[in-house]
Amino acid sequence: MPSTVVVGTQWGDEGKGKFTDLFAQDMQVVVRYQGGHNAGHTLVVDGETTALQLIPSGVLYDHITPVIGNGVVVDLEVLIKEIDMLEAKGVNCDHLKLSGNAHLILPYHQELDVVFERHLGANKLGTTKRGIGPAYADKAFRVGIRVQDLLDPKIFREKLNVALHEKGPLLAKVYNRLTPNAEDLASTYLDTYLPRIAPLIADTTDFIHEALEADQHVLFEGAQATFLDLDHGTYPFVTSSNPTAGGACTGTGVGPRDLNRIVGIAKAYTTRVGSGPFPAELFDEVADHFVDVGHEYGTNTGRRRRTGWFDSVMLRHAARLNSLTDIALTKLDVMDALETVKICVAYDIDGQRVEKMPYHQTDFHKAKPIYEELPGWQEDITGVTKASDLPKKAQDYVRALEEYIGVPISLIGVGPGRKQYVDWQ
Ligand code: GDP
Ligand code: IMO
Ligand code: MG
Repeated sequence: MPSTVVVGTQWGDEGKGKFTDLFAQDMQVVVRYQGGHNAGHTLVVDGETTALQLIPSGVLYDHITPVIGNGVVVDLEVLIKEIDMLEAKGVNCDHLKLSGNAHLILPYHQELDVVFERHLGANKLGTTKRGIGPAYADKAFRVGIRVQDLLDPKIFREKLNVALHEKGPLLAKVYNRLTPNAEDLASTYLDTYLPRIAPLIADTTDFIHEALEADQHVLFEGAQATFLDLDHGTYPFVTSSNPTAGGACTGTGVGPRDLNRIVGIAKAYTTRVGSGPFPAELFDEVADHFVDVGHEYGTNTGRRRRTGWFDSVMLRHAARLNSLTDIALTKLDVMDALETVKICVAYDIDGQRVEKMPYHQTDFHKAKPIYEELPGWQEDITGVTKASDLPKKAQDYVRALEEYIGVPISLIGVGPGRKQYVDWQ
């Protein structure tokens, strides 16, 4: 019962979609285990770009069953639009499975996300304003509404009334917004959305176990990333779920022993969208280079990503938190033109050299990067297909990263296209 987890090791947008799509060639099932449409996973196949938010990145293959697991929060309007977008491209979504235990993002969650961010002012988190935090908060508070609740209209209406009993006054009296109308919402969900998604609703935990028992290869696709993890990330500048590999268990219903290979996706430099500490962040022309050459703008939100050098302190921590077996390094080609490249190998915190992720968040905010500098390779690598054809200086950079992280790099991305990668090792 082979299985693979794809997990982001930095602050998101490492290229999880690209490598999920690549790995899916040889697999049968691809499952999203957490997050929602805050994710933006980009696939480039034969020059055509597809940006996915909710549907697993294996969907482009006919042989893959894409599954949205119980740990995901689902905005049905977005899901239906995504299905329509894919079907317009000729991608069949009939075999998509949606967990009945997944929680719904309702319009009031999104509205609360927007007004709460506004309320935080300068302290805002920089969320994607998709309603992710409020939906997971309701799940934890046990007033969330699940996909399966739609199958019993009486229960759905009851739960909606309970939720609106609190959300109505909160929106109206605290945030000066309109109170959502329960009957309008109920009819949109039951009469418009339910007929579209009812055939997809499934016991996905059972489906995944049956697949594993039949020796099918299941791929668990993480969204967001290790340092956006609610428990292990740079709280409060995190998302509201567990993108770390353990989230693949809780978010789908498999046990830790069901996970075999755990591939950390790491960008050859670092990016972050939204607020929060970022020790190796750059504000110079190299930052502009990463943004311009790497097209570092949010897949869905269009926001400019913050950029910096590769941080091996974070990656060492990510290797532990996720039990990484190997790493797929992405976007090495974006560094092609640089004269020198740097790796953050430790932090200076109040004059002390620190080689581990500091436990206290205040220390992480103060951390100054200590760099090792290497010469750049200044050659175009986007057409390289064999590791031995990479320029020696690029190979040296990859080897240095491996040494600092302590986990083998297995693949290197040299461009956005499905075929633009090389096997390393
Ligand atoms: P994800 O959220 O982790 O799936 O990543 P995104 O799709 O949000 O962002 C990664 C971006 O980098 C996308 O535009 C990809 O097409 C692109 N990409 C992925 N791998 C590579 C690579 O090796 N080189 C280059 N130049 N682009 C890449
Ligand atoms: P993928 O899967 C990058 C960030 C937001 C914000 C914080 C909380 O494409 O890597 P949220 O809307 O989740 O409450 O926002 O998390 N964030 C992401 N950053 N890539 C993502 O997804 C992200 N999803 C959320 O920018 O800082
Ligand atoms: Mg993304």
